[in-house]
Amino acid sequence: MSPKPTPADKFSFGLWTVGWEARDQFGDASRPWLDPVESVHRLAELGAAHVTFHDDDVVPFGSNAADRDRILARFKGALAETGITVEMVTTNTFSHPIFKDGAFTSNDRQVRRYGLRKVVRNVDLAAELGADTFVMWGGREGAEYDSAKDLKAAHDRYAEGIDTVAAYIKDKGYSLRIAIEPKPNEPRGDILLPTVGHALGFIAQLEHGDIVGLNPETGHEQMAGLNYTSGIAQALWSDKLFHIDLNGQRSIKYDQDLVFGHGDLFSAFATVDLVENGFPSGGPRYDGPRHFDYKPSRTEDMTGVWDSAAANMSTYLLLKERALAFRADPEVTEALEASKVFELAQPTLAEGETLQDLLDDPTSYEELDIDEVAARGFHFVRLNQLALEHAIGAR
Ligand code: GCO
Ligand code: MN
Ligand code: MN
Repeated sequence: MSPKPTPADKFSFGLWTVGWEARDQFGDASRPWLDPVESVHRLAELGAAHVTFHDDDVVPFGSNAADRDRILARFKGALAETGITVEMVTTNTFSHPIFKDGAFTSNDRQVRRYGLRKVVRNVDLAAELGADTFVMWGGREGAEYDSAKDLKAAHDRYAEGIDTVAAYIKDKGYSLRIAIEPKPNEPRGDILLPTVGHALGFIAQLEHGDIVGLNPETGHEQMAGLNYTSGIAQALWSDKLFHIDLNGQRSIKYDQDLVFGHGDLFSAFATVDLVENGFPSGGPRYDGPRHFDYKPSRTEDMTGVWDSAAANMSTYLLLKERALAFRADPEVTEALEASKVFELAQPTLAEGETLQDLLDDPTSYEELDIDEVAARGFHFVRLNQLALEHAIGAR
């Protein structure tokens, strides 16, 4: 039996997920346009707490001011009727051909100035709707050819764009934080800030980096062959995990945006374990929305769209049950001890001990029985098998 989600579970969906008409590189739309107002109602019925959107998901690109006001008023009506809130807003700086070479890093300065205006206008909307997070996914910020970009200048312009928006947020007194979403490629051949690690390094160089963090997506790290749970762990350790995009991806290939758990299920278990249980020896926790950024497969009709939305939440809740049982199992605690997982939280130098003290301690080096220490096993396989048995409900 799948558990039933409630708003207390903090599930959130991008309107562009269920609303995707399934137009791809090779084929036309396989589903009709979906009214965002209907999505809000349906997601509320399914047990979600929040929605997120790009400006253009709700107000079509190029709408005049009167149409924009009318559309937004109707959208706010749906929020009020359902109790759904907007926790994150993001800007579409990738669909219109003006952004074909990017927005903040386009070689064309007029495009960059236009892009900045579109983003800043959307920051005002995010604040008005009470969002906490402003995501920046720079899907078009990149190139196909190494000769096409001055990469030093591109990073300068990227930093200029984000710092300008962050300064604006501070000037206005908005309680918004920017979350950069890394992705290695697609739609560009190579995208700037391709992984969590690259983005963390970039944020450290910003003037207003204090309100800039990350929105890592499961599939994007996996497209780069990386471990998503490690990525969000480092973001947490850096106090930069502002938001998450959960979905599924099967190995290094095009961005699949599958339902959460429909890619690497055991890795999804590790993600839920970290989000719900935290690090084994404690430390920073992620407390934000459990946000799904997936695409209902092109093969699905509208029934399949809502089934797939529900599937994200029930997979998450099932894995949560398993992850809680995993950590509560005394045999697991004993296996964690045997694997010295808790010992890693002990500082290498004792409190007050200096490097000189270590150099003067013959038991740490000269007298150490290296062969005895080297021969010790860590029993990680047994621990991992316990995790697997919990993950599949065998315990
Ligand atoms: C992708 C991305 C996008 C972004 C979204 C937010 O699948 O490549 O996830 O969906 O998250 O556009 O700007
Ligand atoms: Mn994606
Ligand atoms: Mn995403």
